[in-house]
Amino acid sequence: MRKWWKEIVMYQIYPRSFKDSNGDGIGDLRGIIEKVDYLASLGIDLIWLSPVYQSPNDDNGYDISDYYAIHPEFGTMDDFDELLQRLHEKGIKLIMDLVVNHTSDEHLWFEESRKSKDNPYRDFYIWKGNGGQLPNNWQSWFGGSAWEYDKNTDSYYLHYFTKKQPDLNWENPKVRNEIYKNMRFWLDKGVDGFRMDVISLLSKPEVFSDSLSENIHYLAEHHYANGPKIHTYLQEMYEQVLGDYDIMTVGEGPGITKEVALDYIGEDRNELNMIFQLDHMIIDHGPGGKFDIADFSLRDLKKIMDGWEEATANGGWNNIFLDNHDFPRMVSRFGNDGEFREASTKMLLGFLLTQKGTPCIYMGSEIGMTNVKFKSPEEYRDIETVNYFQEVKDQQLNMEEALQKVHIQGRDNVRIPIQWNDSNNAGFTDGNPWIDVNPNYKSINVESSEDHKDSILNFFRDFIKYRKQDLIWVYGSYENLDIDSELLYSYQREYEGRRMIVICNFSNYQLDLPDYVQGEYVNGNYDSTPKLRPWEIKIYSI
Ligand code: GLC
Ligand code: CA
Repeated sequence: MRKWWKEIVMYQIYPRSFKDSNGDGIGDLRGIIEKVDYLASLGIDLIWLSPVYQSPNDDNGYDISDYYAIHPEFGTMDDFDELLQRLHEKGIKLIMDLVVNHTSDEHLWFEESRKSKDNPYRDFYIWKGNGGQLPNNWQSWFGGSAWEYDKNTDSYYLHYFTKKQPDLNWENPKVRNEIYKNMRFWLDKGVDGFRMDVISLLSKPEVFSDSLSENIHYLAEHHYANGPKIHTYLQEMYEQVLGDYDIMTVGEGPGITKEVALDYIGEDRNELNMIFQLDHMIIDHGPGGKFDIADFSLRDLKKIMDGWEEATANGGWNNIFLDNHDFPRMVSRFGNDGEFREASTKMLLGFLLTQKGTPCIYMGSEIGMTNVKFKSPEEYRDIETVNYFQEVKDQQLNMEEALQKVHIQGRDNVRIPIQWNDSNNAGFTDGNPWIDVNPNYKSINVESSEDHKDSILNFFRDFIKYRKQDLIWVYGSYENLDIDSELLYSYQREYEGRRMIVICNFSNYQLDLPDYVQGEYVNGNYDSTPKLRPWEIKIYSI
């Protein structure tokens, strides 16, 4: 079925790092307003804005203390309204980040909840009195136990993330109604939907039994995620709120396997439109988590992407992305951010725009921004990384090695400021940025990309135009043509009797074209040599 949210190109903004308008070193809403023309020039249709709500910033805004207020460091509600209006004038939609698995411990509900066992807000959170014993052995996502002791009532509260992010008790209808009310508040302002943070984790198990493993992925799949009432809640949310608006919803889905995906996004389910599946984002995580780095091959990536494609081909819809604010830069992870940075970024962008699903591009990838290698642990800001360094220190492990792992996996790789030009601080701020810029901004920045016809930026713009000319890229069926190759990712899209074949060279080598490609090269300039340059993408219409 045709749906607008299948036909769009999404773009994620992490507001802290996009553009600072007032010199305090922190990106803000007026900074985004300054760049509305730039955003429109890209040809994107919808922005996912990471949280801008009131927050003590323990986890950079994913710990919300007031769902109805804009954090002053981002601006005011008037600024928000103006941004929304300016974007809408340009035909760009905006979706908010809905973070309702947990609040900040500084949210009024939690401040009340912890006061006493008979406080009216007590049951807004998950408390276990346990005679001074941890309720179970679960680990929090960012290190340490998932339970925090609160001596005031001699009880533990549950927190899947930091101890400043207590988990809400979705069992409690009052909690659910408060959240629905808040969702209506934003939708009635005119926002176009939600990206739903860790939505698979809302429903908690009836019994908190010990886990057999401390492996975080095991925990997610077997304990945290897909709890017994998750679909009751999501269907209720749809009935109470979502169904009344023409919006898009995308749930972040840790622990959602492709086997259960359609329970969330099946067209007949009245739950969500799509999920951000994370299998390819944890492709290189070992049993110990992201800093326990494992090898992966192109074939592994294909198996995951194609497995999801297959699982959702009938009655579901995918989101296609290769990075976001939680994972390394796509070019540093899946491409080559050295010699072939330009070619491989272009290829990956083309890949995102020709796979089957709604593509989501993370800010900065349109100019080929890369991971950053800060020299000392002190330069890092992300709570996950900071906690990791602390653990390494406490356990007297090798700090140099830890730093190298963070260079590969840390979330700050993508949270550094956008590189606007080659002036001080990459043109991000006139003040001191909250986190350092990547020194490569001198050569990699928006301004210099504007000047070059062949830049990644202009390639991206042209490719979006190209994609939009033909619904084959949206509704065409998908078939992988070569699951085994470790160098080529090739697939075919078919629609109304026409076929397009996409060939992506995921290698540093020049390769011969596979023999099944004949016909005309349609993407960009006609190329008479039947070869694929390193990291080249070519498209044939058959
Ligand atoms: C999601 C967010 C991440 C955050 C976590 C806790 O995974 O994307 O940034 O730390 O949830 O809210
Ligand atoms: Ca600012």
